[in-house]
Amino acid sequence: MKMIIKIKYKVLSIIISIIVHGYAENINVYGPGLQPHKVVLPARYFFVNFTNINEDTYTNDLGQSVAVEITGTAFKKSHCRIWSNVLDRKDGTFIVRYKLYEECSSLSINIYYKNKHIQQSPITFEGPIKQDQCVCPEPDLNVWLQNNECPLSYDQINDDLRPFEQVKIKRQITKIIKKYHNPESTSFCHYVVKSNELYRKCYGKHIGFNMFADNILLSILRKVLIPDIELVINLGDWPLTRKGSDILPIFSWCGSDESLDIVMPTYDITESSLENMGRVTLDILSVQGNVDRKWTKREPRAFWRGRDSREERLKLIDIARANPDLLNASLTNFFFFRNKEEEYGPKLPHISFFKFFEYKYQINIDGTVAAYRLPYLLAGGGMVLKQESPYYEHFYRQLKPWKHYVPVARDLNDLTEKIKWSRDHDDEAHTIAKNAKNFANENLLPHHIICYHVVLLSEWSRKLDEEITVEANMTHVPQDTFPCNCAKGNSHDEL
Ligand SMILES: *[C@@H]1O[C@H](CO)[C@@H](O)[C@H](O)[C@H]1NC(C)=O
Ligand SMILES: *[C@@H]1O[C@H](CO)[C@@H](O)[C@H](O)[C@H]1NC(C)=O
Ligand SMILES: *[C@@H]1O[C@H](CO)[C@@H](O)[C@H](O)[C@H]1NC(C)=O
Repeated sequence: MKMIIKIKYKVLSIIISIIVHGYAENINVYGPGLQPHKVVLPARYFFVNFTNINEDTYTNDLGQSVAVEITGTAFKKSHCRIWSNVLDRKDGTFIVRYKLYEECSSLSINIYYKNKHIQQSPITFEGPIKQDQCVCPEPDLNVWLQNNECPLSYDQINDDLRPFEQVKIKRQITKIIKKYHNPESTSFCHYVVKSNELYRKCYGKHIGFNMFADNILLSILRKVLIPDIELVINLGDWPLTRKGSDILPIFSWCGSDESLDIVMPTYDITESSLENMGRVTLDILSVQGNVDRKWTKREPRAFWRGRDSREERLKLIDIARANPDLLNASLTNFFFFRNKEEEYGPKLPHISFFKFFEYKYQINIDGTVAAYRLPYLLAGGGMVLKQESPYYEHFYRQLKPWKHYVPVARDLNDLTEKIKWSRDHDDEAHTIAKNAKNFANENLLPHHIICYHVVLLSEWSRKLDEEITVEANMTHVPQDTFPCNCAKGNSHDEL
């Protein structure tokens, strides 16, 4: 056993200047990033919440400051590589994110206020702190669920899986392929997880999106040992099953009132959960830190940008032209209604999603199916005007009209009336906006998205009633190799 020389090396230090009209002891620090030995995420995060200030007393022109410093040691080096950043939510709360680029052998999280450690800081951890690419699955699924504070069940999952009991999956898969394999219009993949290894066989012409399904499944298999399962994931937006016909188990990113597909979080929110501080710039955390206008400074009008993927989106342009004092809406692309570009154009260039929140009210209107931007609209602190829709994502049933959003008729006939209501009821509108943001923080953060998948897969495994086998014509989807020391509390240097 080699000795490890642990030298605390300052890898970063971030100073945020803020004025606090409260007391240091009124600082709450919470979030999964404070359990780095238990909760493995691509980017870890926690919140620093000054309970005595709110957006009205907040300014940033005095020198009192919060500093966050995250340092670690690595097995062969004096320090491990960590990148962190702090997002100021402009309401007296901050999001601290940090990403490990390698496994650390110890970690220290230091949070200072007025040059003094706050609360439990420094928080130190010994033993391997896993990098997200480590293939070190927790052998006990229940322990993993507890460590990650996942809900035990979700109503949406219970309902989606209710029709399925003692499923003879091979037979069902054969039926699915026979019924839905139509290369021109549908694309899906048959996946098998066997001994925590992933295998797939895809059907259809446009199977590039299997990348998203692969990413989340591999990510889960690195983190926890899950029972053997077999499932079909639809790579298209439209749900495939029809109520009333023979019900076959198909996992989809979007559900609808007319179908019985089993809903999983969309590839969009899933990818942004896995790639925050990575490839993706818009995610549930970044949208909170990049919106720099508090409510009172936002324009009391509705804002919308998007492509022409549904007729109501054209109607929205008509409404906006007739009511420029109430809403600013434009199309950014013509594809579905190219012949109407003259009438509904010119198309405007894309603008940063963060700029949407210069306006108080945000319109969520279906595209081909549910608009996958809703999570970010909720998190951005705008008041969402949501078109009534038969389409839904995995979390919609937890949302309540008038609590988390203001409902708008499917034909948009009451849209102007609803915007006027919002203007005339600013306190209520602000409360709805705050509820929406809280909802996003309680249900749509990266660890929530991972929890949902794990609970779904684990519940699905209980429905299966035969031994899972890998067919010879399936492709093995391997994990990338990444040097890690999986053993808990083991400080050997074996790399
Ligand atoms: C800060 O934390 C307190 C106590 O947990 C909570 O009541 C408050 O809503 C939080 N503030 C924000 C803006 O999240
Ligand atoms: C609508 O929004 C765009 C982008 O922010 C802005 O340039 C334009 O001036 C706005 N139009 C009106 C009428 O407010
Ligand atoms: C793959 O193998 C299974 C079982 O051996 C077989 O039923 C199925 O038809 C094969 N699929 C294709 C596309 O060859």
